[in-house]
Amino acid sequence: MRKRVLSGIQPTGNIHIGNYLAAVQNWVLRQDEFENIFCIVDLHAITIYQDPRILKRQIRQLAALLIASGIDPQKSFVFVQSQVSAHAQLAWILNCFTPMGWLNRMTQFKEKSKECKNEVSTGLFDYPVLMAADILLYETDLVPVGEDQKQHVEFARDIAKRFNSIYGPTFKIPEVLIPEVGARIMGLDEPTKKMSKSKERFGHAIYLLDSPDQIRAKIMAAVTDSGRDIHFDQSRPGIYNLLVIYELFTKYPRPDIERRFEGKGYVALKKELIEVIIEHLRPLQSRYQKLMEDSGQIDSILQKGAVAVRPITEKTLAAVKEKVGLW
Ligand code: TYM
Repeated sequence: MRKRVLSGIQPTGNIHIGNYLAAVQNWVLRQDEFENIFCIVDLHAITIYQDPRILKRQIRQLAALLIASGIDPQKSFVFVQSQVSAHAQLAWILNCFTPMGWLNRMTQFKEKSKECKNEVSTGLFDYPVLMAADILLYETDLVPVGEDQKQHVEFARDIAKRFNSIYGPTFKIPEVLIPEVGARIMGLDEPTKKMSKSKERFGHAIYLLDSPDQIRAKIMAAVTDSGRDIHFDQSRPGIYNLLVIYELFTKYPRPDIERRFEGKGYVALKKELIEVIIEHLRPLQSRYQKLMEDSGQIDSILQKGAVAVRPITEKTLAAVKEKVGLW
């Protein structure tokens, strides 16, 4: 029996290389090893206000980007969260078993609520419970995510254990799967903070749909330090981040990378990194453009994904309702 993997990604904007290198690329690389379920989490996206026309378009764009990145709909189910109503239903039930103190401890809520220009929604506070529902509905074995989502997966484990201890074995306890390298890709303009979709500064992140000129400008402007030597040294966050990005795009071993840049300065690394990223993204972008010419095809993949996963969710939801005493 292959292990079941579930992960999710928000359809807010064009995804960046942090999302790609820590999450999507790993989903693709291990697609044959697991049974895969990937969810475009639009219900999570609306915890912060989204323009409805833009959100609809971004859902399709993200689906096309995932497929262009190598997610194969023959090997993985890809669907939109709001199309499978059990996610919201299970989230409600889990809400009733979630102490508010547990949610108060979530670091992402603290950060995001500070960023909110308007009022902070109850949905944003409750975000981890919906994420727990996403995971627990599928008897998930593994949840491959970047480091910033680790606390949320641990939260899902805690809720599952709490529910199981009240009602007897119901949920499988999932494991988090964090990449050894690149679990936290940092902002190019601020290498001590994680690369984030919500930062609007031009030089902060490289997006999968960036043009060669944009990639060039962003990498050349990336913050480094006043040194010259090129080593994987975490105490020099700017250069370390660039080296990790280089490593993940090329898959070269670290000693080879260090040897390659021996005696060369940061500009040499930056110039080569630019070419590596452009060449990696070029075929991905052209697959994306082709897919977007036929949005009917994308919609049909998402539709099929939802139809395929619904029975799994209905079985779990029925078991949970029975345990809790609902009709
Ligand atoms: P999201 O959409 O913010 O990010 C998608 C994936 O990208 C990872 N990631 C990063 N990894 C490394 N460096 C970074 N700078 C970086 N930024 C983002 C995230 O860790 C994630 O793996 N709450 C989730 C979506 C979600 C989910 C789920 C995930 C909803 N339900 C169930 C797993 C299982 C999120 O907002 O990811």
